[in-house]
Amino acid sequence: MESVHAIKQRFGIIGDDPKLNRSIEKAIQVAPTDISVLVTGESGVGKESIPRIIHSLSHRKHNKYIAVNCGAIPEGTIDSELFGHEKGAFTGATSTRSGYFEEADGGTIFLDEVGELPLPTQVRLLRVLENGEFLKVGSSKTQKTDVRIVAATNVKMFDAIKNERFREDLYYRLSTVEINLPPLRDRKSDIHLLFRKFASDFATKYKMPTIRLEDDAVQNLLKYRWSGNIRQLRNVAEQISVLEQNRSISAEKLRAYLPDTGSNLPAVIGQNKKSESDFNSEREILYKVLFDMKSDLNDLKKLTLELMENGNNATVQEENKSLIKKIYSEDDSDAYESAEDITEVLQLPEESVVSSPMKDKYHFAEDVEEEETLSLQEKELELIEKSLERHNGKRKAAAKELGISERTLYRKIKQYDL
Ligand SMILES: Nc1ncnc2c1ncn2[C@@H]1O[C@H](COP(=O)(O)OP(=O)(O)OP(=O)(O)O)[C@@H](O)[C@H]1O
Ligand SMILES: [Mg+2]
Repeated sequence: MESVHAIKQRFGIIGDDPKLNRSIEKAIQVAPTDISVLVTGESGVGKESIPRIIHSLSHRKHNKYIAVNCGAIPEGTIDSELFGHEKGAFTGATSTRSGYFEEADGGTIFLDEVGELPLPTQVRLLRVLENGEFLKVGSSKTQKTDVRIVAATNVKMFDAIKNERFREDLYYRLSTVEINLPPLRDRKSDIHLLFRKFASDFATKYKMPTIRLEDDAVQNLLKYRWSGNIRQLRNVAEQISVLEQNRSISAEKLRAYLPDTGSNLPAVIGQNKKSESDFNSEREILYKVLFDMKSDLNDLKKLTLELMENGNNATVQEENKSLIKKIYSEDDSDAYESAEDITEVLQLPEESVVSSPMKDKYHFAEDVEEEETLSLQEKELELIEKSLERHNGKRKAAAKELGISERTLYRKIKQYDL
């Protein structure tokens, strides 16, 4: 029998917490049987690797493994997806189609988010579990299949049963063996380990030096509730890896990435909350990249204009020293300081640009830019507001997070009347 250690390596599972090891051990033990398994645990704890382990260690490993996200299939089509349909069973059923239970004959089906299954589908599933029988939609001919079922849920199944959203008999059939994955906050010894692994992966991915947490930041990382579990931890590691110039992360800096730090209120756990926060952080990263790109573009425009007007001579090079350094230098810290000077230059009153003989040639480009500037300004405003909010109005911390000087932030606050 393969060891827990070997399985963790094979499936890229990081951590050495005894509760995690016990869950993996259970998966290894149950794998050679045909027993139905229910994997439970909060969102983001790593439930999806368990059915893969079970399948790959079972006698079914050479047959199909099909993962179905029950929450993602519309109620109207789920029966047909799972069990297939006959030609003419409903409008649009132009031919007979086999479903996952027929396809996976001899293999394993992973029913993720099983708590989301509609009640009529639960009845069909119960029948398959009881005697391997099912009916295609629109057919009265019973078919047989030999499928091992592993299901997963992050909802409290007993609540669902109490509210008559899930059949009790089906629950007991599915959960012959239950494998529970512990939340990250109960696996304290794994938190920093996982963070370091993710930080190193993202450093490679984004070709940047690896971020490192200062000692007090590590303490905060361990105390945090992590209601989005490992998914949230990875997300935080990615955001910091992308956004922070200084690769040594203090506790104060880390706090900005941990919503509701210090709150003892129970965290809200749920798909919607999770996806909303993922979206926000991704959007913020994109805005930051956009701003940097726009600033580079403006620098390049200015330099090109200078070169077209005056040619490439020593005076132009001397006058644009900081600009050239910013565009072509690898050193980010200097770059951000000089970027501010350029912003000042670009914000000169209209007349100074009008006096340029090149103005007419670029008229069209200027118009386009104006519209783009407007929407970017809205995003910039949103980004500044959020950063200030995260840092409780502390300008120094917000400026650092945004990669601009305090002076620039102060000017923007005045500009946007914040
Ligand atoms: N022990 C671990 N080591 C490394 N990565 C992990 C570990 N556990 C989970 N992950 C990663 O965290 C992310 C979330 O895991 P997964 O998708 O399995 O969560 P889940 O429990 O199915 O959550 P949900 O209920 O929201 O579907 C995945 O990208 C997964 O690779
Ligand atoms: Mg999942």
